[in-house]
Amino acid sequence: MRIGERELALPLIQGGMGVGVSMGGLAGAVAAQGAMGTLSTADAGYAEPDFATDPQGANLRTLEKEIRKAKEIARGAGVVAVNAMVATRQYADAVKTAVKAGADAIVSGAGLPLELPALVEGSRVAIAPIVSSARAARLICRTWAKRYQKAPDFVVLEGCQAGGHLGFDYEELEAGSCPTLEELVPQVLAELKPFEAEFGRPIPLFVGGGVATGREMARYTKMGAAGAQMATRFIATRECDASQGYKDALIAASPQDIRLIHSPVGLPGRALNSPLVQKILEGGRLAPRHCSGCIKNCRPSEIPFCITHALIQAVKGNWEEGLFFCGGRVEMLKEMLTVPQLVDEIITEWRKYA
Ligand SMILES: Cc1cc2nc3c(=O)[nH]c(=O)nc-3n(C[C@H](O)[C@H](O)[C@H](O)COP(=O)(O)O)c2cc1C
Repeated sequence: MRIGERELALPLIQGGMGVGVSMGGLAGAVAAQGAMGTLSTADAGYAEPDFATDPQGANLRTLEKEIRKAKEIARGAGVVAVNAMVATRQYADAVKTAVKAGADAIVSGAGLPLELPALVEGSRVAIAPIVSSARAARLICRTWAKRYQKAPDFVVLEGCQAGGHLGFDYEELEAGSCPTLEELVPQVLAELKPFEAEFGRPIPLFVGGGVATGREMARYTKMGAAGAQMATRFIATRECDASQGYKDALIAASPQDIRLIHSPVGLPGRALNSPLVQKILEGGRLAPRHCSGCIKNCRPSEIPFCITHALIQAVKGNWEEGLFFCGGRVEMLKEMLTVPQLVDEIITEWRKYA
């Protein structure tokens, strides 16, 4: 299938994972298989020596370097995408840097990416929003068509079982009353239809959030989706850019170890029940020691913990202070695999059931 200027051989996206979980190593390995690998822009420069003094500079420099690395590993195959979150202060600069560094696609969520077409103007990069409702899909498509005469090159629909920050209310997540992907897929497809007609091309829909096997992927492609986005499953791979400590924590976990938290980003999040999570859920606080100004509306004096610090500690494997984001299907992580093994397993099963 066409994704902007590129051909995507396999209808599978490895979702972006910040901080540092999906960088050039993982995204490049996934693209090399003919699928779409996604780097995360969130605090990409966390391991750089000047991150404490110049986080913005370290982030953009590292992002550029990691995109080049991913493209080198992919060797012309697949699609190298970059995930940029609207809620981050560096959003516009990160998107512009990614385009300059040669990313094939920009995927944007954690807020409504209404201005994304303007940020990539003059380039041929593919652009895609992440949505969690038909309403958001409609609003984004209408705005892009009206303001920029542009339709998304593809759309990611993220359901309530996803890892990381979630586009649903905390209360409906807790109550288990979120709409299911089976309900959302036809609704979002219906919203995309008029824009496919207006722009004379398909707008492929990729479905993610708790989609963990090729068989589950087939369920949604039979409903009309183009493919799936998976993230958590890619953490237990050798090529994943997180520390072995992160990978081992997820492999050892079962569904009972997963908790929902209120993130300082202003969205609910799904993570492992680590000592930090237990502390926050009991009303405790790990006061921020340093602020890099990563999130637009964050109030360091009020928040229970610093999201940047917690995610950086997690990617380094610090169980005590880390926030270990993971999706709802953590039981699917049983052993370490390579990216080629995992992609082959998923695609072989998908072909069998599609
Ligand atoms: C560790 C982790 C970090 C994530 N970070 C981001 C992120 O920075 N930006 C984003 O849009 N989504 C992020 N996500 C969401 C994933 O890209 C993906 O859509 C979702 O997790 C899919 O569900 P799955 O993990 O059950 O496959 C993250 C997910 C995980 C597990």
